[in-house]
This record gives sequence, structure tokens and C-alpha cells, in this order.
Amino acid sequence: MRFIITKNYQELSQKAADLVIKQIKQKPNSVLGLATGSTPLGLYQNLVKVYKQGSIDFKKITTFNLDEYYGLAPTDKQSYHYFMWHNLFSKININPKNIFIPDGLIKKNQLKIYCQNYEREIKKHGGIDLQILGLGQNGHLGFNEPGFNFNSKTRLVNLTKTTILANSRFFNNKKIMPRQAVTMGLKTITQAKKIILLASGENKAKVIALAVKGQVTAKVPASILQKHKNTTFILDQKAVSLL
Ligand code: F6R
Repeated sequence: MRFIITKNYQELSQKAADLVIKQIKQKPNSVLGLATGSTPLGLYQNLVKVYKQGSIDFKKITTFNLDEYYGLAPTDKQSYHYFMWHNLFSKININPKNIFIPDGLIKKNQLKIYCQNYEREIKKHGGIDLQILGLGQNGHLGFNEPGFNFNSKTRLVNLTKTTILANSRFFNNKKIMPRQAVTMGLKTITQAKKIILLASGENKAKVIALAVKGQVTAKVPASILQKHKNTTFILDQKAVSLL
């Protein structure tokens, strides 16, 4: 595990963008694993900025998103499809054919095959070169909640109360927040060649300490990253206050 500690969120977002840009420059047809949520927003803003300056080309990259709420249409403003298009994809020259985000509207009886195909598609593209991760306050990665299997693959999962509470801030009405999501599994995530985990703020300090210094346990899904060969944690001062 490598650590980059930054003074604040702004610097964290800059460092993360520097590493993503380095990856794309080294391998223009990189396969990126992407996350949503509030933490990677600054990273995406920086990527858009650098793209507008003309110093990076996204034409050949392929992206796989970690997750999507089950039951939300891509046009729904709370969906992760909408998030990605609004914050990144519509602002860069990525080929829409190279964008993969789990379908939140897939019928229950097609889910199994759909998820197997998502995994197959990642493999067909040669695997994920660089996976961006945020971190749930309960230690979740993607929507792999505490207690989930380290060998898990892409599938439908139930969200925990902690996640529903944390993410309901994005929904006007807590009751309409989906209770399930389609997420890459922990195995899918840890098969990425490189991983960058971003965490910012005091509310992540406790879980960062557990994930980085605690036991590798399914109770803290992110602790599995201790076993990954090429993970960089980019953390701001507040997120490391309990380390
Ligand atoms: C989102 C995702 C989640 C978030 C996590 C942290 O695609 O995979 O695991 O990364 O819930 O969310 P924020 O960044 O909003 O604190």
C-alpha cells in the first residue's frame, strides 16, 4: 500500500487527476474503473479541465463503473448513469461505445446473465488497468457492504441502513431511495491492476484507520486492499486524523 497525504480535498483531487492522466498518457487505451459519490467529483472536474486545455485524449479509453442503484433509469438524476454523464462523459471525448455502467433497470430474471456478461466484458477488454474507489463510512467498496464475500463478483445486493442513511442526502425524499444496487464484487475490484482509493474528511477517519491498520476482515470490506499489490490511498489530513 502506498499513501499520499494531502492538506485538503482540493489537493487530493489534483493528485488523483495527475495519476489518472499519467495512466492515460502511458497507455492511451487504458481501461478505467470509475466510482461515483461526492469524493471523486474534484478528480472528474480536474480531468475535464485538463481535457479542455487540450493536453489529454480520452478517445481510446474504456470505462467500467462500479455500481448503479437498482430500479433507477439512466435518465434519473439520482442514477449513477446520470452522475457520470453529467460530471464527466458529456464533457470529454470518450467514445460512448466504450462506457460500461451497470443497468439499474435490468429485469430480475435477466440479472444473473447480465452480471456474468459485465464480468466477461471487463475480461474481454484485458481487465481494469486503474480502478478509482471511494470509501463508505462503513468500509464499503462499490456497494459491497460489511460481511460480504471477498470472492464476490458483479451482482445485485441489498444496501445496509448505514449506506441508505449516508446516501439519502442525494435524494429529496429518503423513502424513494433504492434499497438495492448492482455492484461489481470485491473480487472484481481487487482484480484491477492498480487501485486508487480516495477518502476525504473527518467522517472517513475511523474507517480509514480500520481499513489500513486493522485486520483484514469482511466486516471492513476495504481492508482487503491491504492484500492488493498496487493500491495507492490518497487521503486528506482529516481522513488520516485517526491513523
Ligand atoms: C459509488 C461507490 C461508493 C462510494 C462511497 C463513498 O460509486 O462505489 O462506494 O464510493 O459510498 O461515497 P462518497 O464519496 O459520497 O462519500
